[in-house]
Amino acid sequence: MKKVLAAVLASMMVLSLAACGGGDKKETEAPKKETEKATEAPKETEKATEKATDAAKETAEKATQAAPAADGEKLKIGVCIYKFDDNFMTLYRQELQKYLEETYGAEVTVVDGKGDQAEQTNQIDNFISQGVDVLILNLVQASATETVAKTCADAGIPAVFINREPDAAELERWESEGVAATYVGADARQSGTFQGEIILDTANKGDINGDGKVSYVMLIGDPENVDAQYRTEFSVKALTDAGVEVEELFAQRGDWDQAKGQELTANALAQFGDQVEVVFANNDAMALGAIEAIEAEGRKVNEDIYLVGVDALDEATAAIKDGRMTGTVLNDHMGQSHTAADVAIKMANGEKVDTKYTVDYVKVTE
Ligand code: BGC
Repeated sequence: MKKVLAAVLASMMVLSLAACGGGDKKETEAPKKETEKATEAPKETEKATEKATDAAKETAEKATQAAPAADGEKLKIGVCIYKFDDNFMTLYRQELQKYLEETYGAEVTVVDGKGDQAEQTNQIDNFISQGVDVLILNLVQASATETVAKTCADAGIPAVFINREPDAAELERWESEGVAATYVGADARQSGTFQGEIILDTANKGDINGDGKVSYVMLIGDPENVDAQYRTEFSVKALTDAGVEVEELFAQRGDWDQAKGQELTANALAQFGDQVEVVFANNDAMALGAIEAIEAEGRKVNEDIYLVGVDALDEATAAIKDGRMTGTVLNDHMGQSHTAADVAIKMANGEKVDTKYTVDYVKVTE
């Protein structure tokens, strides 16, 4: 088993974080184990940022405890990303690499799956033949999880799956068979619920024209991905659970993509015009595309239409401040990448870990 230096580096980092944060150890909900339910969350962007920072601080503290003894040899870590051309996963992978290198002195190689599962499977095979100590995997297709987990287990290489949640049966298999695999992500139901709650918090609960129902457009991510499925379902469920009647005017896949978000929203507005009261986008990239289409039609967000996304990309929080978007939900790439890294290091050192770790979402409005 290889060991990596890091105790020193990690404790230096914690010390400097503590110094920056005034030495006060704040409470945080992230990262934490699965099972806890979505809870009420602060609304201000500042609070969201503060919470993400707290999460980062806590994971750094955990890292110190988990840091393996130094023997001068670097851990080799292979990271597979489903495609580099994704706004959210770009922030995620950059932070993941930085944190692994700076906190653990690991040797990290990150590769681009280009949205092609066959290509990514080759990349995984290459990492295995290079003898990496652990793999961090953002699969192109979540449905490939079992096959990939078996390949890694056969090679004796632990696997940390990120971002695209495998189905529950596969997680149970890891548990019952003692497979060295885990999933680190967030509970997408919570993000959908928060989107719906943001609409419920508007002056007219989303019913701008007062006809007794909320007529909406849904911009769906990649429908194979549970993030897309749950956000689509739970955003609307938050409204119906609150006794609000809804009407789906238009729901189509935009594959998490800004240009597609723009095109779909333009189509929906051309077809349904003023009937459209709310645009739910499964992520911010598509919401940013929607802004272009909404403005091209001369519509005014928060006056004659509402628009919500997920991720809290900088461009989206800026749009919220400018009144061009109603709200978003922070998808904490800092907390998730740090948790994935901490767990990967533990597994590379032969420690047993849980089969699932989730990081909370946070509502972001003006
Ligand atoms: C993010 C999307 C991203 C997707 C990639 C989701 O959790 O919200 O922005 O495109 O992950 O799988």
